[in-house]
Amino acid sequence: MKAVVITEFGGPEVLQVVEVSVPEIGATQVLVKVGAAGVNRPDVFQRKGNYPAPQGVPADIPGLEIAGYVVEIGSAVSSFRVGDRVMALVGGGGYAEYVVAEEGCCLPIPANVSFEHAASLPENVYTVWHNVFERGRLCAGEKFLVHGGSGGIGYTAIQLAKLFGAEVFTTVGSRRKVDFVRSLGVDHVVQYREADFAEVWKQEGIDVILDSIGGAYFDKNICLLNEEGRLVYINAVDGGQVSLNLFKVMQKRLVLTGSTLRARDMVFKGRLTQAIEKHVLPLIANGRFVTSVDRVFPYEQASEAHRYMEAGQHVGKIVLSFGVRL
Ligand SMILES: NC(=O)c1ccc[n+]([C@@H]2O[C@H](COP(=O)([O-])OP(=O)(O)OC[C@H]3O[C@@H](n4cnc5c(N)ncnc54)[C@H](OP(=O)(O)O)[C@@H]3O)[C@@H](O)[C@H]2O)c1
Repeated sequence: MKAVVITEFGGPEVLQVVEVSVPEIGATQVLVKVGAAGVNRPDVFQRKGNYPAPQGVPADIPGLEIAGYVVEIGSAVSSFRVGDRVMALVGGGGYAEYVVAEEGCCLPIPANVSFEHAASLPENVYTVWHNVFERGRLCAGEKFLVHGGSGGIGYTAIQLAKLFGAEVFTTVGSRRKVDFVRSLGVDHVVQYREADFAEVWKQEGIDVILDSIGGAYFDKNICLLNEEGRLVYINAVDGGQVSLNLFKVMQKRLVLTGSTLRARDMVFKGRLTQAIEKHVLPLIANGRFVTSVDRVFPYEQASEAHRYMEAGQHVGKIVLSFGVRL
């Protein structure tokens, strides 16, 4: 089969299409003929050598989410059959014509959703569901802030928070991105290059914040939080070394938490898959959660897709297509 391989750590040009063996499945796994694979910021970090693949997945093929149809099932698989359309969260190896997925990390694709749109969902939906609703315990009527609202994580968090009844705040980098997040129903938006969000919202009292920026945002987030507020980290691109005034944590009874999805075990991911099937899949099937795919690149142009992501102009998701239909 053809796969997009990280030939060495470096710029987008190190991604090259290479002939490799079709992977073999285990008893609890399915083999998926890939129709499309989502492109995520962590793929860029992996390509640069800053985000190694966990054990048991191809170390040199990026890709954390795929959609396609099942061509083979393991002896213990009971929920899926050959021919079923599935989307899956995978530990790596997604930029390939065939991918092995755990049965417990597969979801059926609703009839109205294409492979390209389905492939844009798992990484963001799993990350947002766990961090915003399970760790952050966001409830209806609360105020929720997500930084970087126009990216894959951001637009997913905005929509789910709105659908579950929160008042939603976000930061974005341009006027075009303001229009995009407004179209998703966001209540308050700041262009972070034009204004200081901590100044603009200092009277608000935010209940839950999802942050991947860190650095100088950390103390601003702490100051914005309400009593009993929850601050959830999923990355810290501006730096993870921060200083914290513990008295603010005590005075406001704050919870500071965070997580990384990729390294978690199958028990955790299987439980999360069930929660998403119950709470989020119906919203995708009935069209209340709208997938936003900014651009689809043929998989042979994976380097271009990474260049496009690094340029930072995208709104919503970037996807690789393998030209498969079912
Ligand atoms: N922990 C986990 O399990 C996990 C899982 C998935 C992703 N992540 C992390 O989540 C982050 C988002 O991933 P993604 O795939 O959604 O990437 P993405 O599509 O590139 O989105 C990142 C967004 O952040 C915005 N941004 C950059 N600097 C900012 C700043 N100073 N203030 C506010 N917004 C800023 C960018 O847009 P602007 O042009 O508006 O700046 C962009 O829209 C990444 O850091 C990724 O590594 C973590």
